[in-house]
Amino acid sequence: MEGISMYKGVIFDLDGVITSTDEFHYLAWKELANRIGITNFTRSDNLKQRGVSRMESLEVVLSLGNKKYSDEEKVALANEKNEIYKTLLEKMDKSYLEPSVLTTLKELRNRKYKLAIGSSSKNTKLILEKIGLLNFFDAISDGNNITKSKPDPEVFLKAASMLKLEPSECVVVEDAKAGIDAAVAGNFLACGIGPANEYSKTQLKINKISDLLDYLK
Ligand code: BG6
Ligand code: MG
Repeated sequence: MEGISMYKGVIFDLDGVITSTDEFHYLAWKELANRIGITNFTRSDNLKQRGVSRMESLEVVLSLGNKKYSDEEKVALANEKNEIYKTLLEKMDKSYLEPSVLTTLKELRNRKYKLAIGSSSKNTKLILEKIGLLNFFDAISDGNNITKSKPDPEVFLKAASMLKLEPSECVVVEDAKAGIDAAVAGNFLACGIGPANEYSKTQLKINKISDLLDYLK
């Protein structure tokens, strides 16, 4: 693609982009759904949870049942899911970071791009630590420093500001529709991978992270 060299930074979503924790989110929500008698939660429902906050993800599950829960009960259910999720995360180590992802990140750095994480997850640092990337990125913007989650652009705007770059100078890499919407709303280049490639608003579609090296010279 011509003209892409105007970019100076890359902001990566975490779950489903840097590592496959999207699968653990699915498994944990499936377990929680089963525990509360919601047996019709599917992978397609899980797609709607990508990119959005933990509480909004819970609403996706609860909308499949007909029971009403108080706010307090909802917080307890979200905490319960997070405990299941964190148990699944325990087995993670550096082998959960694909060598080609690490090579790509290092090569982008070599090419002088600034690199950040922009994730809705409050478990971001725990996961980065597990896969050996806690101290790798120039900035980490995550579920702990935002008030509105994707599709609001806040998490990416904060990442760009930490990198001291304008949104128009950054590429956002996302697997979720909500993340692509957030990137477009914030005036970033919205690059999609995986499920985001089925979305019409995705501006640059890649099959694998290493494809970025063809565009960001
Ligand atoms: C996003 C995931 O990265 O983080 C969502 O795509 C998830 O599915 C959100 O709900 C919040 O994650 P956590 O780890 O704070 O529950
Ligand atoms: Mg994601």
